[in-house]
Formats: sequence, C-alpha cells, structure tokens
Amino acid sequence: MTTDRLGQLDLDHLFHPSTDLKTHGQSGPLIWERGEGVHVYDTDGKQYLEGMAGLWCTALGYGEPELVEAAKKQMETFCYGPLFAGKANEPSIRLAAKLAEWVPIEGARFLFGCSGSDANDAQVKLIRYYFNAIGKPHKKKILSRENAYHGVTLASAALTGLPAFHKNFDLPGDDVIHLTAPYHYRHAEPGESEEAFSDRLAEELRAVIAREGAENIAAMIAEPLMAAGGVIPPPAGYFEKIQPILRENDILMIDDEVVCGFGRTGNDFGCQTWDIQPATMTMAKALSSAYQPISAVAVPPFMYEAIAEASGEMGLFAHGLTYAGHPVAAAVALRNLELMEERGVMVHAAKMGERLQAGLERVREHPLVGDVRGESLIAGVELVADRETHERFAPEKKIAFKAASACLEEGLIVRALPGDTIAVCPPLIIDEGQVDELVEKLVRGLDRVIAP
Ligand SMILES: Cc1ncc(COP(=O)(O)O)c(C=O)c1O
Repeated sequence: MTTDRLGQLDLDHLFHPSTDLKTHGQSGPLIWERGEGVHVYDTDGKQYLEGMAGLWCTALGYGEPELVEAAKKQMETFCYGPLFAGKANEPSIRLAAKLAEWVPIEGARFLFGCSGSDANDAQVKLIRYYFNAIGKPHKKKILSRENAYHGVTLASAALTGLPAFHKNFDLPGDDVIHLTAPYHYRHAEPGESEEAFSDRLAEELRAVIAREGAENIAAMIAEPLMAAGGVIPPPAGYFEKIQPILRENDILMIDDEVVCGFGRTGNDFGCQTWDIQPATMTMAKALSSAYQPISAVAVPPFMYEAIAEASGEMGLFAHGLTYAGHPVAAAVALRNLELMEERGVMVHAAKMGERLQAGLERVREHPLVGDVRGESLIAGVELVADRETHERFAPEKKIAFKAASACLEEGLIVRALPGDTIAVCPPLIIDEGQVDELVEKLVRGLDRVIAP
C-alpha cells in the first residue's frame, strides 16, 4: 500500500497514544516499514538511526534472527497457556529462574505482566495486599516524585508525576504523594551542591513522613534515573540519604527499572549504578528488547510468604492477566537475556555509554543547550532560552519538538520530552561509529533549529 493511502487510513481510523491528536489530524503519521540493527526505515525507504531504541526498549536492535526464531519455535510448540490455577509453561518457569540470577533480590519470585504500566499497577496492589496481610492495613500511601513516569493505567498514572498524565483523567490519587523531583539543574538553589540539594530532599522526605505518619505510608516508588520526566540522574548522595529514612519508617522501596533495567545505565540494573537496595522491582521494555510485550515484578520472599498465607485463607490470590507468563513472550525474553549474556552486551553497552557521554560534551557548548546529563547509554539535552539564567523557552515555541523534527530530517530519531529535554537512548548494540554519527546528527539537528 502507498504511503499516502496508509496515511489516510491512519487519519481515518487510528487513535494514537501519547500524541497531540489535534496536530496529528493536520500533519499525519510517519510510518515505519522495517528495521535492521540500529536502523529503521520509513515507507519511503528513508533510513534513520534509532537514537531512542523505540521507546527506550529495543535493546538488541531490530531484526535479531535469534529472537525471531525463539518466537516462531514457541508458537509452533505451544502458543498459549495461562498461569492461572497453578498451571505453567516451560518458558515462564525458565524465565523466572533466569531473572532470579539477574536481580539483586535474594530469593525473588516473578509476577509477569504485559507492560510497565500493568506491572506498576500490580506493585500497588501487591504492597496493599501485603500490608493488609501482616495486619498493617493503614499503610496505604505511596511516595513518588514530580517528573516521575510510571505508566498510564489508573494506579500507575497516579504514581506518574507529570501534569499532562493527570489533567482531565480524574485519577484516583489521594494515596499518592509526589515529592520534589531530584532535578538539580532546575530545583537547586543558586550555588547549592548536589550533596546539599540531596540533603534538602532528604529533609523534605522526613517532613512528609512526619506530616502523613509513617504508619500510613507503605512504599516509595522511584526510577533510579528518571527517564520520561526529563532524563534526570539522581544528584550525588540522593539515594544514600533517603534510603535509611525509608528503612527507619518501614517504607518499602519499589524500584522501577522499566527503562534503567538490563544494561541501560552501565550495569545490569540502575539500582546497581546508584546503590539502591530495592524491596521490589518492576521490569519491562529491554526484558524482551521489545520483541514481545512482557513485564515482570520481582517480589521478595518476605512479601511472597505473607501474600501466600493470606491467599490460602481466601482460597485464591485473585490477581492475574490472561497473558501473564505468555509462553511466546517468555520464550523471547528468555532468549533475549541469554543473548545478552552470551554476547557480553552489558560490557559493550557500558563502553558505548562512555563514548556517548564523552561525545555529548560537544553538545554542551551549543547555544540552545542549557544542560547535558545522563548515564552511560541514556542522555538528556535540555534546551533553554537563556544559558545563564536557565530560563525556558515559551511553551508555544515547541522548541524540543522542532529540534526532534530537525534531527529526523537528519535521519536521527530522538525524543522531545516535557520541559524541552531531548532524550537519547539508542539500542545497546550500537557501535562506536554509530555513537559518533548519533552525536554528529544531533548537533546538525540543533544547528538547523537556529539556522536563519
Ligand atoms: C520508568 C517507566 N515505568 C513504567 C513505564 C510504563 O511502561 P509501559 O509503557 O510498558 O506501560 C514506562 C514507560 O515508558 C517507564 O518509562
């Protein structure tokens, strides 16, 4: 079918998620046709360097034959079977066992889902179930942060700390408290060091706990590095200072590794990069390199045992999705993790991450750029009207969207985030030449925006 015809059918019939629907009605879609390695191609045959790994997820790149084969083989052997009522399938069992080798939670069990959002929804339900089961029914509230992104289902959208994901949706939300984002570039006082800023955020946490009562707060959810909220790495000392406060108050740390997990920040998980000791973890995206929709919640033994005991009394743990532990998704995720191990992808990604961060130092001097930040193979470039005062561009200028569009013209996919940060997050298999090409194209894209 021609691009024009597809475009018309899109305009007539598709409802695009996370899109300015009004503008889309005028501009129409950019339609992808195929992908190979770190490149994708549109329906007119133009090649793009995928600088965002899709949505922070295609870790092993596009067209990986081993993952295609894993899916095909599993579909032929056994295409579907639920995990309900104690039934199982081999890929889910083996994936859970493989994840137990990867995650830093001793004795963890894995509850599978289909997306990061449903997994974070499950986190909220599990935490509530757990505290009810151990006789602390008042522990309900969950601490999150402004700028956090944890998904879009009712509960996970309430955890998300970005206004557009709340406005007009009438979310249930008085059980979620958003703390100040650990966003040093925007929220530090003039001259305040990262350590001093982290101290101030730790004081805020103490004050919120004192106000709400520790007996009412169940958990805090955090991405090790905040991705969709602006690519915000934690300031120095942040997790070191807040974790003891959480522990003192019996507040569980939910570690949202949906973006940071599986090599993105230079280690297997973001919690290892920033020395976080999670109670539970949420994983998705790179878990299958996005070849199949699958997510997982890592549940520690102390929670599992209490939940199991309570479910025994009721005769059922009454939560589960039809496609949880889908054998095809699990088989692909398992092969994905094996390939990461066999090919040393974590070590390669860490090396490429160093090259990316070093290369982006060039961008720091660009007249549009206020801040460059990130860790390893994830980076954010914040665009500002005034580099001295950090003053933002007027929102109607849509400067980040213009920059992302200019990069597209250059054949590079990046993402414009709220707050005018351009995000970069390429597949982990990117090579040295491609990292350099990414930086070069990004600079050319930014130059286009200021060109007379
Ligand atoms: C940190 C984080 N958590 C959760 C989610 C939600 O995942 P999904 O879009 O698969 O529902 C995302 C999605 O980008 C994410 O970045």
